[in-house]
Amino acid sequence: MDPYLLGLRLEGRRVVVVGGGAVASRRIPALLDAGADVLLVSPKVAASLEDLAAAGRIRWEPRGYRPGDCAGAWLVCACTDDPEVNAAVAAAAEAQRTWYVRADDAGASAAWTPASGRAGDVRIGVLSVDPKRGDPRHSAAIRDAVLAGLQSGQLSARHGRRHPAGVAIIGGGPGDPGLITVRGRQLLAEADVVLTDRLAPRSLLDELRDDVEIIDAGKIPYGRAMAQEHINAALVGHAQAGRFVARLKGGDPFVFGRGAEEVLACLRAGVPVTVVPGVTSAVGVPASAWVPVTHRGVAQEFHVVSVHVAPGDERSTVNWELLGGSTGTLVLLMAVERIGAVADELLRYGRSPDTPVSVIADGTLPTQRTINSTLEQVESCVAEEGIRPPAIVVVGDVVSVAAEITELMRHVTA
Ligand SMILES: C[S@@+](CC[C@H](N)C(=O)[O-])C[C@H]1O[C@@H](n2cnc3c(N)ncnc32)[C@H](O)[C@@H]1O
Repeated sequence: MDPYLLGLRLEGRRVVVVGGGAVASRRIPALLDAGADVLLVSPKVAASLEDLAAAGRIRWEPRGYRPGDCAGAWLVCACTDDPEVNAAVAAAAEAQRTWYVRADDAGASAAWTPASGRAGDVRIGVLSVDPKRGDPRHSAAIRDAVLAGLQSGQLSARHGRRHPAGVAIIGGGPGDPGLITVRGRQLLAEADVVLTDRLAPRSLLDELRDDVEIIDAGKIPYGRAMAQEHINAALVGHAQAGRFVARLKGGDPFVFGRGAEEVLACLRAGVPVTVVPGVTSAVGVPASAWVPVTHRGVAQEFHVVSVHVAPGDERSTVNWELLGGSTGTLVLLMAVERIGAVADELLRYGRSPDTPVSVIADGTLPTQRTINSTLEQVESCVAEEGIRPPAIVVVGDVVSVAAEITELMRHVTA
């Protein structure tokens, strides 16, 4: 017989899990997401489950299974690696007419756990009708394909459900389309209008439906300040006309991205707005070149600095004296054209001339380029190599860690 699919509403209901190994570690977080009152019975448990018990999120009885443990349960999961114990748990659940899942024997289970996942406001579940013979990876692969389709918008669920309203300010990550968040991608797929920035992951726009209006905010004229006013007006105007607007930005919207200005403009106009954080280029781009912004024993702090105006410029609010005197990693954005002035300032305030510097242009994109230099040499190096924005400049000893990683990488073949 085919199984009968149900969605169990477990909030506040007792679920007994017997066994605290790998299977329980996978099942329990999902049970907690559903609000279940989890009782875990196992002499030893995985570290993640111990943490959940210590945080009071589950009750853990650190002992073996005993008859009577399933009393009061709505659902029982037998997850030990001992078939005899699992059989005893299953028999107890069966006797009291409680649904039970046996991790070791699908054929002896009263219920099966589907491969499941969530996309927006739907949860999907996929069950092989014969998990005794079927490959569980098959169900998982179908689940992944459906989720990926919903997330990219290739599988559209637009009809018959609530259409989102207002504006979503979405951090698109540093450029590689794979580095947007799942939530960002879902909201992008639902948009009627997309306002995109120059540094946003534009290849994602290709996946949008033909009827989605795409506005290139980078092409809005009138200079920087005015352009922002026009962007704000466009966000508000489209949303007030009943369209769901995605504002696709590079990196994280709140890191030198003027995202909060857009949020304020929407709220002042009474337009509902949401923000989806993104992978900021300040951290993601160094990582893409193997530069860790912190490293034990090397750098305990990192400073992210906008150099859209040079040191000494009256509009600059950066304390270069403090940065020159610190030993932390410096991550400089919008610095390429002013790198000479920055290096002079850092040297003046105490950084050593041979401090390692990495400049990473077009980070995470196929055109990514990295040059390594020192504080003393970086200006001429950038000029000689013809490095152009967008680029991230990293100053500090963490750059040497990247050198060590890349050297080791040469000996490790995939
Ligand atoms: C106006 S800021 C926006 C930062 C963005 N909100 C973020 O969180 O990454 C633009 C600067 O970010 C840096 N940047 C953004 N994307 C980059 C990339 N793919 N490679 C290198 N630098 C990048 C450059 O320094 C660029 O001049």
